Amino acid sequence: MPGREPIERPLVLGIESSCDDTACALLDGRGAVLVSVVSSQLEAHRLYGGVVPEIASREHLRNWPEVSREALERVGVEMSDVDVVAATSGPGLVGSLLVGLTLGRSIAYALGRPFQAVHHLEGHLYSPFLDPDGAAAEEIPERFVGLVVSGGHTNLFAVERSAAGGPTVSTLAETRDDAIGEAFDKIGKRVGLPYPQGPRVDELAETGDASAHSLPVPHPGGELFFSYSGLKTQTLVTLETLCREQDLELPLAEPLPRPVVDLLASFRAAAVAQLIDRLDRLVAERPIELLAVSGGVAANRLLRRELSAWAAAREVMLRLVPLVYSGDNAAMIAFAALLRHRRGERDDPLAVEAASRVPL
Ligand code: KG4
Ligand code: ZN
Repeated sequence: MPGREPIERPLVLGIESSCDDTACALLDGRGAVLVSVVSSQLEAHRLYGGVVPEIASREHLRNWPEVSREALERVGVEMSDVDVVAATSGPGLVGSLLVGLTLGRSIAYALGRPFQAVHHLEGHLYSPFLDPDGAAAEEIPERFVGLVVSGGHTNLFAVERSAAGGPTVSTLAETRDDAIGEAFDKIGKRVGLPYPQGPRVDELAETGDASAHSLPVPHPGGELFFSYSGLKTQTLVTLETLCREQDLELPLAEPLPRPVVDLLASFRAAAVAQLIDRLDRLVAERPIELLAVSGGVAANRLLRRELSAWAAAREVMLRLVPLVYSGDNAAMIAFAALLRHRRGERDDPLAVEAASRVPL
């Protein structure tokens, strides 16, 4: 394109298809996001109130040509201009993963470019360092604590640069049962809210009275782990009781009655309080210089406010993922791949496989 600044190399193509979003992104060598296209499959799954795996993989296949064409056109490059190809290899829905991973492997192999198979959580973990306005990514600090909160995960990680230069990532805490986003979705679904329920529960909770119900924040004793199934069950039982008393039939239609909105606010407060409680326990054990928070639930309004207050009070540096990169996207996959590429790591496009469950 005439007059355009040359793209700083390597130009990285990212592909993400682990669940119900078909995403493609291009990143330059500074970690600046040149384009990030996410095609959600909301309409395809709405009828069922949640993601149907078989439909998700078919939709990925259907969406990819359009999504990739849009990404390349917006940057004004061709597929053959790409220097590094990256795709999510897991965890996620295996049929969905296979679509994006196979595309990525094939593109890398056909073009003879290096390939990076990226762990979905590694993508989320570094996403708070991306710039929302397309500037270069922030340099990754030598050590930080990562909180990943999504529909499938509730994890605290310690990330440290090893002597060899690569990061060592250790799990400090994970959920024993449900993930936080799953609890938001299941409660929202029972209430009668359309998929995806998490953002709508958050929106409604903004208008409710969180002090209406006292819901449990489980205490892990001397250990550090999350648990959301007790809170979910308690909220659902309270919901049933409330509806019986008020002669309401579930699922409800919006606008929701005030007591239900208050219950959603109480649920959200307890869900967020558990995260803050674990951070308090962690910081009592070890200093946290920087906390990087990511994943779909990192868009939660209350969580963002509470984390900002918590970090300021504890003098912890905070990086909240930019809202555009909180949900699943391919920019985070391309960024994790760029970091690997800089360290000289490579995956064999003929050998990598998709895995629905795989530790980071
Ligand atoms: O990271 P993500 O897009 O996909 C997974 O890797 O799971 O996260 C999706 C999850 C869903 O459970 C969705 O309901 C939840 O994030 N979510 C929210 C909010 N926005 C998305 N949960 C609570 N409040 C929100 N504002
Ligand atoms: Zn995710």
